[in-house]
Amino acid sequence: MSQAGYVHGGTDAREVARLEKQADFTASFTFSSVDLKPGQRVLDLATGVGAMGARLLRTAPGIQLVGVDLAAGQLAAARQNHPELPVLRGNAIRLPFRDATFDRVHCSWLLEHVPDPVPVLREVHRVLRPGGMCHFIEVDNATFHATPACPSATEVMRRLNEAQVKGGGDPFVGRHLEKEFTAAGFTRFRVERRPLVGDASDPRFFQAFVDEFAEIFEGLDESLGAEALPLIANAITELRRLPQLEGSSLRYTPSIARAWR
Ligand SMILES: C[S@@+](CC[C@H](N)C(=O)[O-])C[C@H]1O[C@@H](n2cnc3c(N)ncnc32)[C@H](O)[C@@H]1O
Repeated sequence: MSQAGYVHGGTDAREVARLEKQADFTASFTFSSVDLKPGQRVLDLATGVGAMGARLLRTAPGIQLVGVDLAAGQLAAARQNHPELPVLRGNAIRLPFRDATFDRVHCSWLLEHVPDPVPVLREVHRVLRPGGMCHFIEVDNATFHATPACPSATEVMRRLNEAQVKGGGDPFVGRHLEKEFTAAGFTRFRVERRPLVGDASDPRFFQAFVDEFAEIFEGLDESLGAEALPLIANAITELRRLPQLEGSSLRYTPSIARAWR
């Protein structure tokens, strides 16, 4: 196993900038439950361009952090943009570490891209020390919902999900994480599914939330094909218009899992 067909963009400057911005957004609603302590040995699994890893280091400067990713191109960008973050090439199902190496494993947005999460989680279980904890943030694209309806955006999501499933990934993986953690041998875990809601009550968040999806959509031109370009353009227009419409909202529920070895 390696990586299922990767639906997002590559490592061009636009995609790297998107991932850096996405990391700020992700950190804004996940870092409160990360709780790292100086001296802890931490793995950022599937570190990509190092965006989340660098933010973990900034939040908890005393940790001993290493990032691992399968893709050499992503790691090259990580080394260039975040020289403070040590990174290694490795596959999540065969990590280059001894048993019980880490106090913490952090992982954002990986499991949607692998054909089977269980071997990954088994490997995480192996490299965690007894008492250690892993923290995953994962997608469930079935929770994407706009009011009023945004038909083009909904259709782009549908095609994105289809492309991901066809490539061997799972855009709904967050929905069944309990089953995957159990199958991997974890007996203590908690999965939180708190809806993120963009609406008029917090215009800044609403705008950032809409921008997140609009930028993900912008990067889908390669994976959805040239004939999808007009649809993607309409979807982006629909999303960017949402915050100006009375009574509008955008909802999405990521799954945040914590599991103890
Ligand atoms: C959506 S990116 C997330 C990157 C980063 N965690 C973040 O939040 O910005 C998914 C990453 O998973 C990596 N990946 C996919 N399959 C992998 C595997 N089997 N082992 C290690 N990394 C993998 C990809 O190369 C990519 O960098």
